[in-house]
Amino acid sequence: MKGLYLLKLGGSIITDISKAHTAKEDVIRRIFGEIRRSLARRDFNLIIGHGSGSFAHIPAKKYRVNEGLRYSYSMKGAAVTHQTAKELNLIVNRIAIESGLNTLPFSPLNFALGDQGRIKTGDISQISGALKRGFIPITHGDVVIDLERGVSIASTEEVFRFLSGRLKPEKILLATDVDGVFTREPFRKDAELIKFVGSRNIGDVLSAAGSSAKVDVTGGMKTKIALLYEMCRQSSCEGIIFNGNVKGNIMKALSGPGPENATRVKG
Ligand SMILES: Nc1ncnc2c1ncn2[C@@H]1O[C@H](COP(=O)(O)OP(=O)(O)O)[C@@H](O)[C@H]1O
Ligand SMILES: [Mg+2]
Repeated sequence: MKGLYLLKLGGSIITDISKAHTAKEDVIRRIFGEIRRSLARRDFNLIIGHGSGSFAHIPAKKYRVNEGLRYSYSMKGAAVTHQTAKELNLIVNRIAIESGLNTLPFSPLNFALGDQGRIKTGDISQISGALKRGFIPITHGDVVIDLERGVSIASTEEVFRFLSGRLKPEKILLATDVDGVFTREPFRKDAELIKFVGSRNIGDVLSAAGSSAKVDVTGGMKTKIALLYEMCRQSSCEGIIFNGNVKGNIMKALSGPGPENATRVKG
């Protein structure tokens, strides 16, 4: 089988995080143009995941969905959060199809089960069946039924961690709104980009990485790098965190060694 790439489009790049429920359709269209050109150059299998940005993070935070079914409003919160995640997914998937890609959406709520915030089990037969037939599955961060908490939130990175354990990708590519993991918050003057992460420095990197400066209920850069390192170790693959706002970077990541300014992870 052809090599498999997992590509995440961060909620911070595909939505306007300062405005609730606002997708950046022009950015999404530019990104799918890059994906299409990469697929025309090289033949590879691809699964796309996208974050929730100013869509599902807002109700997830308001209703404290990740705490589970604890409050009178928890069930409503789970319902609204999933609906909101699907609304962004519909926009992303529509633009993918308009861009000439044969994508099929897969919501984790319908294929995965959580246990204390981690995906424990799931059925990937539809996703792998779609891949084998040449489709591009699109998944996203979502509410999942959780064996312990009732419900919990699975970030796109957590969905990738689950999928990578089963599907053994060659590369895991995380496009976000900064160049990679920095030695401190990237807006600080003395912050330096950490270009390589491996067993020797993962401890230091984890203490440098913080949560998101924006609305993000799943832990921002800290959980991103922690989960990426775990997936790369589990599947002996390469991981890259890079800036998806820089034009051409998605194409570089999919059709070559990836952008020069980025964080590369070896498990
Ligand atoms: N050490 C760090 N290096 C890079 N980003 C960091 C760091 N600490 C905190 N962050 C924050 O993490 C954000 C990226 O995570 P997040 O907002 O969850 O992105 P995404 O929407 O792609 O998941 C950055 O924009 C930044 O605000
Ligand atoms: Mg995030």
